[in-house]
Amino acid sequence: MIRVLIVNGPNLNLLGARETEVYGDLTLEDIEGLVTDRASKDGVEVGFFQSNHEGAIVDAIQGAPGNYDAVVINPGAFTHYSYAIRDAVASVEIPVVEIHLSNIAAREEFRSRSVIAAVCVGQISGFGPESYLLGVTAAAKVVGEVS
Ligand code: DQA
Repeated sequence: MIRVLIVNGPNLNLLGARETEVYGDLTLEDIEGLVTDRASKDGVEVGFFQSNHEGAIVDAIQGAPGNYDAVVINPGAFTHYSYAIRDAVASVEIPVVEIHLSNIAAREEFRSRSVIAAVCVGQISGFGPESYLLGVTAAAKVVGEVS
């Protein structure tokens, strides 16, 4: 059984209420439910972590190896400027997939750059909640190919 940790950064706890025209109506709990259902069909075990705090996200990434085979992360606004999260991702041996609900390339200029994507195996952006499902599938495939 492949184990994938899904990490959500700041303000993603407000999904369903926050800028619904950009991020949609589903809550984070709704998305976690969809991911859990799909993952169980694919033989993937998922864990969830959300924090508004950069250091807590660094701790979650550092703690993943040994407990999880891969990480899927939506770093929220930290995507665009957190070198600490980038370094945490670069520090772990397990694959990390970056995901976004919105297409960050099609929004404000500051969102078009991710400082984290380059140390991830890849980035999925713009598919709404489906980005989470695609991220888990991508992570599971990478792990499957490696082991
Ligand atoms: C986001 C995009 C980020 O620019 C933004 O700060 C978020 C959400 C997304 O999922 O589309 O909080 O990561």
